[in-house]
Amino acid sequence: MDVSLSVFDTLIDRSDMSSDKWAKYPESVIPMWVADMDFDAPDCVKNSLNQRVSEGVYGYTHTPKALVSAIQSHLKYRYDWSVSGAHLVHLPGLVCALHLSVRVFSKEGDGIVVPGPVYYHLTKAPLTAKRELLSVDMQVENGRWVPNMVQFEHACAHPNSKMILLCNPHNPGGSVYTKAELLRIHALAEKYDLIVVSDEIHCDLILDDVPHVPFASLNEDAANRTITLMAPSKTFNLAGLGYAFAVIENPSLRHTFNQEKAGLIPSPNLLGLTAAIAAYEDGRAWHQSLLKYLKNNRDFLANRIAATPMKMLHLEATYLAWIDVSALSLDNPHQFFLDAGVGVSDGKDFGNPNYVRLNFGCPQAVLDQAMTRIEEALIVQGFM
Ligand SMILES: Cc1ncc(COP(=O)(O)O)c(C=O)c1O
Repeated sequence: MDVSLSVFDTLIDRSDMSSDKWAKYPESVIPMWVADMDFDAPDCVKNSLNQRVSEGVYGYTHTPKALVSAIQSHLKYRYDWSVSGAHLVHLPGLVCALHLSVRVFSKEGDGIVVPGPVYYHLTKAPLTAKRELLSVDMQVENGRWVPNMVQFEHACAHPNSKMILLCNPHNPGGSVYTKAELLRIHALAEKYDLIVVSDEIHCDLILDDVPHVPFASLNEDAANRTITLMAPSKTFNLAGLGYAFAVIENPSLRHTFNQEKAGLIPSPNLLGLTAAIAAYEDGRAWHQSLLKYLKNNRDFLANRIAATPMKMLHLEATYLAWIDVSALSLDNPHQFFLDAGVGVSDGKDFGNPNYVRLNFGCPQAVLDQAMTRIEEALIVQGFM
């Protein structure tokens, strides 16, 4: 059954929900920072959670077989990727797996190749573990953000390099890597014998008609050297329920990962497991409507940005717009937006202070209001 796009127009008051997103700034500010949408979860998820909560016993819980099957069907249906249930590792979140992977599969001083600007945990994981960050610039090619492949090879060839951390679809910037691009990255991983940790948390948020190719699905060698990280949390807005999973096909990598996580990383919360099953089993119609709504929001935002001195490349995926504000020559772009009443993410947290990241996963009326505030501030400052 279709899910009406109007469900995403509903304004939800999150001010009393201990929401990170809504608590960060004063009430007068529209929060458009962290990757968390202002939408209700699908009904199937809410019903399933209500049912589980009403059971009243919340003891230690293992991963239900139904979740394994639901993930397998989802990956097969969306990416034509057949994954064995035995290769799944269930996690309470994705970020802990990024940090753990770096610590387990490299040692102090090893080099970690990371294309950026990127979601800050991909650079934080190597740096906090005292690894050498081998940065690769994302650059614009044919209107998309892609890694500079000359720098990529140079970084992979570094004598200390051990691992590549990939974010696909890329956050921020929203590029969905093509198969050809992934194959070029894989060729480097193979040539320099590097482990690949592929953060694919945004893979179900593709707004254009382009396929997401899981890195590990490229070929046997890629499958053998990759830790794929995925979750239903961004797609179905379940971040507070804490569930993610890894696909690790190589038995030795999987064994080491599991051994090192034991005692440090807890099992996923039972409500996270419950929500994930419902989302993957019954959330398809909601998901399709969500993508249409987000696509409308993206186009709405792109038109408004195009009428200002700011710039934004076409976003293939995610609800996180990466906006170039360099034409405004501001000392502190984040503060400028905040003074206008819009709480965006500061580009410097991802690696470029001349950008801000704006989350448009919200009712379009809110996006409209935020853009009006930004335009008025630009007019007052003489930018328009
Ligand atoms: C690329 C990327 N990875 C991971 C996360 C967070 O994952 P988790 O909440 O499961 O730790 C985010 C959240 O914004 C993200 O954008």
